[in-house]
Amino acid sequence: MKIWEDEKQCYIRAAIEKNTPEEKEALKKRLDAIDWSLLEHIERKETINERGVFAPLEAVEIDEIRAREAEFREIGIQTIKDGKVGAVLLAGGQGTRLGLDKPKGTLNIGINRELYLFEQLMHNLMDVTNEADAYVPLYIMTSNINYNDTKSFFEEHAYFGYPKDFVIFFVQEMVPACDHEGRVYMESLTEVAMSPNGNGGWFGSMVKAGLLDDIHARGVEWLNVFAVDNCLQRIADPLFIGATIAYGRESGAKVVRKAAPDEKVGVLCTEDGKPSIAEYYEMTEEMATARKANGDLLYGFGVILNYLFSEKKLEEIADAHMPIHVVEKKVPYMDMDGNYVKPETINGYKFETLVLDMVHMMNDCLPYEVDREREFAPIKNLHGVDSLDSARELMKGCGIEL
Ligand code: UTP
Repeated sequence: MKIWEDEKQCYIRAAIEKNTPEEKEALKKRLDAIDWSLLEHIERKETINERGVFAPLEAVEIDEIRAREAEFREIGIQTIKDGKVGAVLLAGGQGTRLGLDKPKGTLNIGINRELYLFEQLMHNLMDVTNEADAYVPLYIMTSNINYNDTKSFFEEHAYFGYPKDFVIFFVQEMVPACDHEGRVYMESLTEVAMSPNGNGGWFGSMVKAGLLDDIHARGVEWLNVFAVDNCLQRIADPLFIGATIAYGRESGAKVVRKAAPDEKVGVLCTEDGKPSIAEYYEMTEEMATARKANGDLLYGFGVILNYLFSEKKLEEIADAHMPIHVVEKKVPYMDMDGNYVKPETINGYKFETLVLDMVHMMNDCLPYEVDREREFAPIKNLHGVDSLDSARELMKGCGIEL
């Protein structure tokens, strides 16, 4: 018996009962194409984060970056001029906390004028491409759900002045979402409630989309991957690229100094000798509060979802298994009576791989300190912490007119 035929799968069964014979056949085909082993991760969700031995990892700090600025800049700019740097914008998320029904990047962050999140990111990228006098290919990951809206938004805005040939869209994979009992939700009578499979699958999805040819043809050797929702994000930052290369590392991660020992950020450190990110809830009190001789926190730098990876190394690990995280989210679904429900509270699980787990697949990683006031303004919510409100304040602080 197939898993979806199990009596437990009540949403699927209820939908099938109401289907016409043709709809039933089409739905069965879609159900057969799903990777049902994902559901097994629900039982293992407490143990996914069983970790090895953490140890601190020295960062290159702002003082050193200032002192070596010219050297790092020269290497970075030359690498960009040589066409060796590509950027990857992760824009496949659903932004459920923000509650938008459009792609997050289409959010207007302006106050007295229109300024879209995507637009601001393109300005940030163009600061660099103007300086280097060379373009950086920008690969944009969307989901099935927001692909059309994202692409047409860029088209309507003439790619915000960036050359179209340097903007390449690709789509990430989708996986089913279920309730807390592992019963897969239906979105309608004929469609399973599918959601994007997290931001960890970006390179695999690029490979599936046939983009390796494009990467090779352009001669890209480094990929800078970043989140859509940090409007102060520096993209293809020459200093970051230059520092990672100067240190001879195969990856780098932008980090910010933790504001307090209990700040809820993932900290870049090592785990069993390899670079890794310890989530705030995985840190013991002792780890979180330990200090170096100079008084700085021993585990003092949090990641901000801006990484640089050697493309060659990414190809080596492309087929490696990544941990599946079972994430609690609000999942809209069709109930057994055929009513569409948009839940107010968390009602189930999604299954995601995370880009931060990729760091642990690298032999080394350079934590590169940036000033959070200048480079970290994530928009996760409308108000409060990490919100549109807080991001606007930070943008004003950087002299950006809104
Ligand atoms: P978040 O973890 O903040 O998720 O994504 P989200 O889906 O945008 O928002 P919530 O949690 O539902 O409110 C961090 C980054 O990873 C991307 C997002 O677009 C964002 O840039 N992402 C996330 C993907 O590209 N794909 C995914 O499946 C999930």
